[in-house]
Amino acid sequence: MRKPLFNGKTRWQVVVAGLLLGSFLLTACGENSPSILNTFGPVAASESFLFYVILIIATIIFVLVEGALIFSIIRYRERPGMPNPRQIHGNLRIEVLWTVIPSIILFIVLFFTIQGLVNVATQPTSSNTLEVRAVGHQWWWEFYYPKYNITTADELHAPVNTIVQVDLYSNNVIHSFWVPALTGKTDVIPGHNNMRWFKADATGTFLGECAEYCGAQHAHMAFHAVIQSSDDFNTWVSTQQQAAVTPSFALAAQGKQIFMGQCTGCHGIVGDNLKGYDDPQVKCNDPAIACLVGPNLTHFGARGLIAGGILTNNRDQCSPGADLLRRCHLAQWLKDPQGIKPGNDMVVNLTDDQIQALVAYLESLN
Ligand code: CUA
Repeated sequence: MRKPLFNGKTRWQVVVAGLLLGSFLLTACGENSPSILNTFGPVAASESFLFYVILIIATIIFVLVEGALIFSIIRYRERPGMPNPRQIHGNLRIEVLWTVIPSIILFIVLFFTIQGLVNVATQPTSSNTLEVRAVGHQWWWEFYYPKYNITTADELHAPVNTIVQVDLYSNNVIHSFWVPALTGKTDVIPGHNNMRWFKADATGTFLGECAEYCGAQHAHMAFHAVIQSSDDFNTWVSTQQQAAVTPSFALAAQGKQIFMGQCTGCHGIVGDNLKGYDDPQVKCNDPAIACLVGPNLTHFGARGLIAGGILTNNRDQCSPGADLLRRCHLAQWLKDPQGIKPGNDMVVNLTDDQIQALVAYLESLN
């Protein structure tokens, strides 16, 4: 007789070890990753509903088929001295049944799928629609609000309970716009302007990501969808419409000078090198215009993320001081952008004193 691979006690140890290993491997799917099943709006809700429909149907089929399989394996297994089983083939009734039943099941799935597609594709008409142009760069998101003529990066602000129409542009490679809690993925294709709508039914900050491989830093192309009450949103808009504040202290003024001397080839600040947000250099969604390579920084200090979300903007840790580089993410970014996010377009060579001044200036831009 062949020796079993594991005896009784070892077998249980293997099962427990497997479960533990599995739960360690799956801890990456924890609280902080956004879930398509934890939805805050009708588009995402429609998508997760479809997921559950298919999951339930698939689970029933799995249990029935695997149950029949396991039952047959045990009930009709070979025993010593058994004759060959009766040989049968060609049962018309069974053949028809197992063709018709799966067809009906697939048509049920098709019905819910088409219903979901229509739900997600049909943007409700509302006079209260907010239009935002999202431009996918390598590797960060720019958001332009045509109605308010403002441009920001890494943060899409929108009011709660409002239809948001996101026009998707790229002047480089294919990206994909995705806010799991609010809406599924839509490709952002150069030369083919897509559109995606969503509505958020709760305020809050929701993580958005690029969902199409777009180069070395695809994984670091995140943004925040900041859903606000309409009052808060209006306040945000009127703040964004202002030009950048004039530096109120000497170090920040020095930072502004460094910005004007070294950074304007790629970045824009309204009131510094840009006359307004409608400066042609801002409009990256028009492929005919060679726009600025980097984000508009007019209100940089008020943003929560730096460089496609690879760092948070921890401005409370950015007051001047000898240990600035140890505390402040913006200082770390200015010191070594290629070390933090290899392959990105930002190449700088700043002394630590220049970094102190630039941080003071940029963080003052709220
Ligand atoms: Cu942009 Cu991936």
